[in-house]
Amino acid sequence: MGYNPCLMDLKDVQANWNRFGETDPFWAVLAWPGMEEGRWDVDAFFATGREEIHQVMAYVAGLGVEIGRDAALDFGCGVGRLTQALAHYFDEVHGVDISEAMLDLARELNQAGDRCHYHLNPRDDLSLFADDAFDFVYSNITLQHMPPRYARGYMLEFLRVLKPGGLAVFQIPSRPRSAMQRLLQPIKPTAAWRWYQRLRYGDAPVMNMYGVPRQEVVRLVEEHGGRIIDVQPDDNADAAWESFRYAVTKSND
Ligand SMILES: C[S@@+](CC[C@H](N)C(=O)[O-])C[C@H]1O[C@@H](n2cnc3c(N)ncnc32)[C@H](O)[C@@H]1O
Repeated sequence: MGYNPCLMDLKDVQANWNRFGETDPFWAVLAWPGMEEGRWDVDAFFATGREEIHQVMAYVAGLGVEIGRDAALDFGCGVGRLTQALAHYFDEVHGVDISEAMLDLARELNQAGDRCHYHLNPRDDLSLFADDAFDFVYSNITLQHMPPRYARGYMLEFLRVLKPGGLAVFQIPSRPRSAMQRLLQPIKPTAAWRWYQRLRYGDAPVMNMYGVPRQEVVRLVEEHGGRIIDVQPDDNADAAWESFRYAVTKSND
């Protein structure tokens, strides 16, 4: 993806998430009220990950899709909340994140031994992985925090790294509920918006929210060898957004 000085890029995303990782990592991952400024209890925090993955695997079973249990990818793994939980279901789990600060903590807190591998990936693709590498790809509350042109690219990468017959389950908001926020959307991935945020918040990290319309996600996936097998409304994003969770398989041919 070519560099354009008028747009926010992955370096901006990375700088934000490194600052979050250094200042309040658990709250930056799960911004539950009352948990800011280091108030998350670490065991309670990781328990939310086990509960989430337990529900996701029950959901997968309900789809009637048989998937292998060799390898899973957790895209936007943060401190490994879901990566470690996935290691109860898969022999090997690879967590990928753009923030070194988050990954340092993920490695420090990892209790799943070498079933979990953590990778720094500042790139706009997943070229660190071969084609057809994973039985399962999972991503939650991550694609929503980057300008949509990157989210689109990663969704295609999920398809590339998925084994034929594998399953990707990912969440991404579709559009803001308010008309005013919808008007702001084209401005938010720009450098002008970043400068405005710098003036307003100084060096403090900012949690930017973006989305890709549902019909565009469906079209993108179907035009690139994926098959959407389910779409569910999702309440993981900010309540100000309509958001969906997509379940996608990659055909065997
Ligand atoms: C809200 S946290 C969620 C972490 C994890 N998915 C969870 O639910 O526990 C979002 C994570 O996405 C990561 N992230 C943002 N943009 C990314 C990108 N382009 N590639 C990989 N990770 C990214 C951030 O560094 C952060 O750790």
